[in-house]
Amino acid sequence: MQKPFSIGVFDSGYGGLTVLKEIVKALPQYDYMYLGDNARAPYGNRSFETVNEYTKECVDWFFEQGCHLVILACNTASAKALRNIQQTHLPTIEGHKRVLGVIRPTAEVIGNFTQSKNIGVLATSGTVQSQSYSLEIKKFFPDVNVYQQACPMWVPLIENNAHHSQGADYFVKEYIHALEKQNSNIDCILLACTHFPLLMEKIIEHSPVDTKIIAQGEIVAASLKDYLERHPEIEMLCSKDSTRTFYTSDSAEDFDKHSSIFYGESIQSTHIKI
Ligand code: DGL
Repeated sequence: MQKPFSIGVFDSGYGGLTVLKEIVKALPQYDYMYLGDNARAPYGNRSFETVNEYTKECVDWFFEQGCHLVILACNTASAKALRNIQQTHLPTIEGHKRVLGVIRPTAEVIGNFTQSKNIGVLATSGTVQSQSYSLEIKKFFPDVNVYQQACPMWVPLIENNAHHSQGADYFVKEYIHALEKQNSNIDCILLACTHFPLLMEKIIEHSPVDTKIIAQGEIVAASLKDYLERHPEIEMLCSKDSTRTFYTSDSAEDFDKHSSIFYGESIQSTHIKI
């Protein structure tokens, strides 16, 4: 008989906490285990091979803890590692483990937010380079045009708690203007990096009025709810004591200090070695 397990939520660092927060709001009954690979973050500018290797190691860590369902709450890992993990890694692993990403559930609904049929996607360089959003959105909304803009400075600013600084203003303005230059009729901007909601205020401030700015947390939470409803054989194995445990590959003290701005409440984490 299989033992009940916590749902695993993974990010390269703190960003996935913005997604976990929404998942917990929508599905508070389950137990969740969060891992931030802070020691090796950011992933955004790293090669496919490196992101793939790091993500696989973290996913294996969740499996060792008994998790059978892991959400990659990181666009970079979803873009660069998910397919490989699903197609080549999982089949070599015993038991029926599932790993889900954040790109497909977002692509499935994002076209509903635009009237002009022009969507802007702000993401890490890695996610942009992978073209995952352009390809996935086209599958669900063939008549929607997708314009991507890499924002390589945003994650370091956020990870270093400098997202309220003047430097952050400069880089928010710069990337939003670069996106607008691609098409001035963009009426919906997707924050395709789980860190970016921390810059929401500045992004709204520097975007054209009436532009819809969409963060992924609620979309991913709704999609997980739907997934569990469609897979009762997995849902019945998810333990339901409403616990949340947090792990980081870097200093737990640092994680606890910084994480509350992403999660909205204080966190006590444990350091682990990957
Ligand atoms: N939060 C990750 C994402 O959604 C990116 C952070 C990083 O560059 O490590 O893409």
